[in-house]
Amino acid sequence: MKINQQKLPRHVAIIMDGNGTWAKRRGLPRNRGHRQGALALKDIMLHAAKLGLEYLTVFAFSTENWKRPREEVEYLMNLPKEFFSEHEEDIVLENIRLRWIGSRERLSEEVIQEIARLEEKTKDNQGLVFTLAFNYGGRDEIVHAANELLKTGKEINEQEFNNFLYSNFLPDVDLLIRTSNQQRISNFLLWKLAYSELYFTKTLWPDFKPKDLGKAIREYQRRERRFGGIK
Ligand code: IPE
Ligand code: IPE
Ligand code: MG
Repeated sequence: MKINQQKLPRHVAIIMDGNGTWAKRRGLPRNRGHRQGALALKDIMLHAAKLGLEYLTVFAFSTENWKRPREEVEYLMNLPKEFFSEHEEDIVLENIRLRWIGSRERLSEEVIQEIARLEEKTKDNQGLVFTLAFNYGGRDEIVHAANELLKTGKEINEQEFNNFLYSNFLPDVDLLIRTSNQQRISNFLLWKLAYSELYFTKTLWPDFKPKDLGKAIREYQRRERRFGGIK
């Protein structure tokens, strides 16, 4: 079965889970799993761009991941910089627009600056919008929005509330993929997931290949979405 190009999900979001497990199974340190995960991400990003997806959002570091050992947190903090330095050329060539969602709190100025540089460099690109959720938490995003809203003193509706979210530029998620056999949301994109189709796979993130993305999209295309209505 081929992917139906007329019925592509507009926004695919991925909880890239299982890097640690991948490493453990090989007797390697967890950070090797994160390294391999970054390689998998490059292939998926480029494949999503080739497929013609409009939005791909990936969960790279959660507001709860600070609980991990210092050595692991340090490695993860360095990954965006490493990822961009290795793949900046591809990102530009493929007309990808890079965006970031998350909190500035606890992030180093260096990381913030590097992401901002790539956002600026790719801001006119018309292809895939590739959003890195980094130091991101769904509840943090909603509370941050509520506080911003308070400053305006206005009562608002759902659409207007969206304007205060970090992810205000993103449409609702059509398809959420989580790898590594865990079936939970883990505080990802709470507002945007209201009517998403959920897809869980046992495949560990470092093993997730373009063909697996294709499989998830084909499964999505077989689903019947209702949004509370009837068929
Ligand atoms: C996902 O892999 C990457 C991040 C959360 C940063 P994990 O590191 O959570 O891998 P597991 O769940 O321990 O296998
Ligand atoms: C979710 O994975 C966060 C990322 C993939 C960045 P976790 O591994 O942190 O989630 P839990 O702890 O298993 O719920
Ligand atoms: Mg995990």
